[in-house]
Amino acid sequence: MDHDPKVPTYQTSDPTSFAHKSARERWPAIVTGAIDDVHRTVSCIPDSDKDALAEGKAITSALATLKYELQHNRVLGPIADDGFPDVELYNDELAARGPPTWHNVEWLFSECYLYRRIATLFSTATTKPWRDYDPFYRQKMKTFRSSRPAVLELCARYRQIVEQIRASSRDAPVGADVTDPTEIEEAEKLLFVEMAEICLWGNATDLSLLTSLSYEEIQKLQGSNARKESEKNILVNDFGAAFAVLTRALKAKREIRRVDIVLDNAGFELFVDLILAGYLLATGLATEVVLHPKDIPWFVSDVVPKDFSALLSAMADPRAFYEDSPDADADADDEPDNDKPAPLAEEEVANVQFLFDHWSHLHGEGKLILRPNRFWTHAGSFWRLPAVAPELMEDLKESELVVFKGDLNYRKLTGDAAWPATTPFTEAIGPLGPGSGLRVLALRTCKADVVVGLPEGKDEEIRAMEGGGGDFGARKWAWSGKWAVVQFSDGKA
Ligand code: F6P
Ligand code: MG
Repeated sequence: MDHDPKVPTYQTSDPTSFAHKSARERWPAIVTGAIDDVHRTVSCIPDSDKDALAEGKAITSALATLKYELQHNRVLGPIADDGFPDVELYNDELAARGPPTWHNVEWLFSECYLYRRIATLFSTATTKPWRDYDPFYRQKMKTFRSSRPAVLELCARYRQIVEQIRASSRDAPVGADVTDPTEIEEAEKLLFVEMAEICLWGNATDLSLLTSLSYEEIQKLQGSNARKESEKNILVNDFGAAFAVLTRALKAKREIRRVDIVLDNAGFELFVDLILAGYLLATGLATEVVLHPKDIPWFVSDVVPKDFSALLSAMADPRAFYEDSPDADADADDEPDNDKPAPLAEEEVANVQFLFDHWSHLHGEGKLILRPNRFWTHAGSFWRLPAVAPELMEDLKESELVVFKGDLNYRKLTGDAAWPATTPFTEAIGPLGPGSGLRVLALRTCKADVVVGLPEGKDEEIRAMEGGGGDFGARKWAWSGKWAVVQFSDGKA
């Protein structure tokens, strides 16, 4: 807490903040989803496995208790010791805060606490399948399956680009029939921006928010037309600065040109993160990409290491993944299209497998690296990073560019504080800003109140639009993932 910005933070007690709605409506729905998932797994355990059955039932009842507590505004109780050092950090902070009640507590702290508490139910379990079980895994895979049209479209595009890169020299660059170096660079920049935009908008479809969207609506959000239309919704766009940094490192022929991606969601968003990573490695804009997943199930859809292997397995055998849906029966009620999925065309299968081969090769060669760290599931802001996780901070300094994906990472970068919207991004990220030794690029679709770095008057202008929240004294426009910011800070300058 001592390291956090000295600016008031968003609270679940504030009716104008998305925190209020999250605490009262979304969290109970999310815990209910976890209960349903555990229940479904319990129903598959044979009667003879009495210990696992008993443990599954105990977990269901602990989740129901948690839901009761948060719906009835009870005090946040201490987290049970599961042997990980962050328990003490959580519990000390809980005590220092009161302890608080669910409807009157800092949003960022309490939301992290919620997922940490859920994780403890599985980290303290002793039987299979509960030990380290992920109650959101099923949901993550189901949503990834429903992204099929966008995945197939992007696989075709990615394959085309990577094959062109392989075939071309620097004099005949990808997507351009030009030899003038300025034009070449411009063409390369366009392609970089296309890949980075794909990566940005992949964040619009996360599970903790999209409980109310239909299968068709999710698909619409992911196609290339949607992306073009959404360009005008990128309120601050620093893609150019990020590209400049990466090209500079390439031209300087720096031997190791590392890019880090602090991941957000699994499934489709992880897929598009890998598109960007694979593209950077194919062009030489990076020689290694380090991916930072979470260590425990987090904010429903966040990537844990198992999601990475599950994604690669799905892509290794796309027919099995897309054509034989194991959830077909269970999903028949909630998906409009409950017929057997259409078979994939030969070319579609080949395209998906092309990506699988490319990515698994990069992973095998040590160019695409997965590096979890417990810090990412701590409660507080990233303002705490240099003091609380100095070795992680030092590691990130080795990178040319650290990309922070998604809304929660943005909330953590800025301390989830009620900054004036015109506050410079470099100021709002405090110790990760100027002089930090880190280059930060936030790719964020807005799904919470905090936003910084906007031009004068922009917040007011969007608030005044229909549904913008002005009439309610809120920044409602920033809650739905429709608007985005791409913000850069050069802490190495
Ligand atoms: O409660 C809403 C919320 O926590 C957002 O603030 C938020 O960050 C989101 O869920 C998850 O978004 P993302 O996956 O982009 O971090
Ligand atoms: Mg997330």
